[in-house]
Amino acid sequence: MQNKRGLQLDRVVLLGRTFEEYRRYFLLEPEKLIGKTVLDVAGGVSSFCAEANDLGIKVTAFDPIYSLSREKIRERSDPDLESVYRTIGLVPTYRWGFYKNPDYMRTLRERASAIFFSDFKIHPQRYVAGELSRLPFTDGEFDLTLVSYLLFAYQDRFDYEFHRDSILEIMLVTRVEARIYPTMTFEAQPSEYIPMLQADPALRRLRVHRNENRF
Ligand SMILES: C[S@@+](CC[C@H](N)C(=O)[O-])C[C@H]1O[C@@H](n2cnc3c(N)ncnc32)[C@H](O)[C@@H]1O
Repeated sequence: MQNKRGLQLDRVVLLGRTFEEYRRYFLLEPEKLIGKTVLDVAGGVSSFCAEANDLGIKVTAFDPIYSLSREKIRERSDPDLESVYRTIGLVPTYRWGFYKNPDYMRTLRERASAIFFSDFKIHPQRYVAGELSRLPFTDGEFDLTLVSYLLFAYQDRFDYEFHRDSILEIMLVTRVEARIYPTMTFEAQPSEYIPMLQADPALRRLRVHRNENRF
């Protein structure tokens, strides 16, 4: 049996990251995105959509939780943050360079979700409910699509077909480029699905490029 060293999660957790974290993960140049349409798939309680729209970037977020009330979302996100906060300091695969320590990471997550909850109330039209591997958008609707911490990271929860079908669907609604972060699992290993996607004839029209930003 494999000895697991990474973060042990029994579900996809409901945590949110800030605009600055997305900027670093995805190597975004915000000034070049002003006026562009961006889709944040699995946006969760991230503040990326709210903060980016404040900068003039037209972001739509997509996640199953957007069918729920703010109270119901909070009932799930608060305990998820608490359980990750309690265990993450013990995880040997976690890099602390940017986050410094679990308290600062928690501060960022709380900041992100506070901004999200406020924006979700004021601008509900920015938040579209639904689940991969289907997207309720028109072909080529977005200049850029981002997926943070759903695909690859959770490869134990979603099979190869889900990854392939989700990526094909994402590329249908995306005019230019999609970026997915991370391409590593929680065990800090490259996802085994990457070479399978690169070799899959169903994706032959796409250029699949792995550029792991060691954030
Ligand atoms: C770890 S959170 C990441 C949130 C955000 N992207 C970030 O990095 O801050 C994972 C999110 O994936 C969402 N999710 C789970 N299954 C999904 C699916 N089939 N399609 C789209 N989103 C899904 C969850 O509701 C949750 O909000």
